[in-house]
Amino acid sequence: MSYKYICTKQECLRTQVLKHPFVVPNLSIPQLSFYSSPYSILTSSCNMTLGTLVIVIMATLLLYFLKKSKRAVLSQRQQARRGLLPPGPATLPIIGNMHQMVWNKPAVFRWIHRLLKEMNTDIMCLRLGATHVIVVACPEIACEVLRKKDEFFASRPTTFASGTVSFGYKGSVLSPHGEQWKKMRRVLTLEILTPSMEQKLHHLRKEEYDHLVRYVNNTACCGMMPHAKNIVNVRHVAQHFCCNLIRRLVFGKRFFSNLPSSSTNGPGYEEEAHVAALFTALNHVYSFCVSDYIPALVGLDLDGHEQVSMDVMRTINRLHDPIIRERIHERSSTLEKGGEDKGARDFLDVLVHLKDAEGQPLLSLQEIRAQTAEMVLAAVDNPSNAVEWALAEMMNRPEIMQKVTDELDAVVGKDRLVQESDIPRLNYLKSCIREAFRIHPYHALNLPHVAMVETTIAGYTIPKDSHILLSRLGLGRNPKIWSEPLEFRPERHLNTVNVLLTEPGLRFISFSSGRRGCPGISLGTSITMMLFARMLQAFTWTKPVGVKNISLQEGNASLALLEPLVLQAQPRLAAYLYR
Ligand code: HEM
Repeated sequence: MSYKYICTKQECLRTQVLKHPFVVPNLSIPQLSFYSSPYSILTSSCNMTLGTLVIVIMATLLLYFLKKSKRAVLSQRQQARRGLLPPGPATLPIIGNMHQMVWNKPAVFRWIHRLLKEMNTDIMCLRLGATHVIVVACPEIACEVLRKKDEFFASRPTTFASGTVSFGYKGSVLSPHGEQWKKMRRVLTLEILTPSMEQKLHHLRKEEYDHLVRYVNNTACCGMMPHAKNIVNVRHVAQHFCCNLIRRLVFGKRFFSNLPSSSTNGPGYEEEAHVAALFTALNHVYSFCVSDYIPALVGLDLDGHEQVSMDVMRTINRLHDPIIRERIHERSSTLEKGGEDKGARDFLDVLVHLKDAEGQPLLSLQEIRAQTAEMVLAAVDNPSNAVEWALAEMMNRPEIMQKVTDELDAVVGKDRLVQESDIPRLNYLKSCIREAFRIHPYHALNLPHVAMVETTIAGYTIPKDSHILLSRLGLGRNPKIWSEPLEFRPERHLNTVNVLLTEPGLRFISFSSGRRGCPGISLGTSITMMLFARMLQAFTWTKPVGVKNISLQEGNASLALLEPLVLQAQPRLAAYLYR
């Protein structure tokens, strides 16, 4: 059964609906006109009453399901002839397991992992509407997907949220397989995330590492109330550090506007709004929306995700667009005056100045907007979450904290701050971060891959257009792979001369693997390790007064710590290193 074929008409409707949000009529217009709600298009323009709307919805659904059911039955017969699908829970006609998915929202991933456990399986097939969703939870099968048969699984699903965040699939992270994805992935790997750019922009990263230490020191020392002295919200610091750093690399600046003067020089209003929008976007893309599997329902916003996606993109665009517009304008005026290309100051410069074979700009405005937004999104969740979790675990395990401090003192000493060049020798610290990635990934499931052809995995038939979800939890906490899987034990990674954060064997997922694997391994490693190493080298961390143990409870709908980690920080190096 071909999802694409079934959806041809719906895709048309969806494209029409989605087209609207991405129209940029004229660059010279001061505020880029970004979007208008598809919901409002459907309702206000037709001026329907609620009753009419309900009838239209019911009729659409009925038609849709009738059309689908015929094909679904056909497809099941074809399946029976062709071979066996992976095991899975019983399905209802037409909707499959959709009712269970809806019932278990927002913690759908917890239901999926319960099922894997109950069925005692490492591969499972759910059916959400007409889409087969295959969940994989063991390294052998994960390697079959992303290493052996990677070429068949190199696409991504199309959903309302991913389409909105990527400006209609103009970037590299969320785009389905095809020429656009290849173009943008080439740009990233050959022009931006290269060793020479990494070297060139080292001074920007170093300034951010230094700022982190100054900021934590100021925050820790500025508590006015005696009971709040030295108190640091680790999550806030970690998330803002990651955002500051990637903003600096992408846009060449850390703030969107001049900050009001403050003693700590911390995030301003716009930076808080940016971080909140980015994390909301990250939490909503691929979060099991009903219309992700029944595209006919796009526009009705049954899960409320459409409004959220558009709201966050409105914030992201409000903050990113003026910088992008100014840079494009700067390029045009430099070219008009016959000025010379001075070389890229940041990632945006690279994007704006790239030329095609005819000497014309290689990337359109939408492509630049998509690529910048995606780069910022890609760099913030994993590093900040891993560092917060590692620190939380270590607060309850003083012997691990001691080993980390001993390693930092032995490798770096106390007369200078730790630098990127020290990372290769900080094996115990890297093992702590690997443990955090293994047990506490930010997302329970890897970004979805889509089967571009019908194929097999572990001997089971995988129909074309199936969504493949590698379970980060299922792999990292798999008791067949890891002894005492829930125990934070960095030593299990210390079996090599240079510990890396990558895991090519897919025993857990850090940067993943294959054609859609993360191209930001080097930058991602630097961000994560420098955040972790600077926090631990420059400060002694203790539990706030009255707290006996740090609670390691996860949220219900996410894998982040239920409560942000709040600790006391005491400087542990000479005063001149904090200036
Ligand atoms: C510790 C930091 C990071 C981790 C753990 C991480 C992890 C991942 C993972 C698991 C994927 C999905 C791979 C798949 O679909 O199988 C991914 C994709 C991606 N990451 Fe990262 N990432 C990190 C940092 C970064 C950074 C800093 C950038 C660039 C600024 C970046 C850019 C990307 C891109 C472009 C993709 C999509 C690749 C594609 O679909 O072709 N990542 N990353």
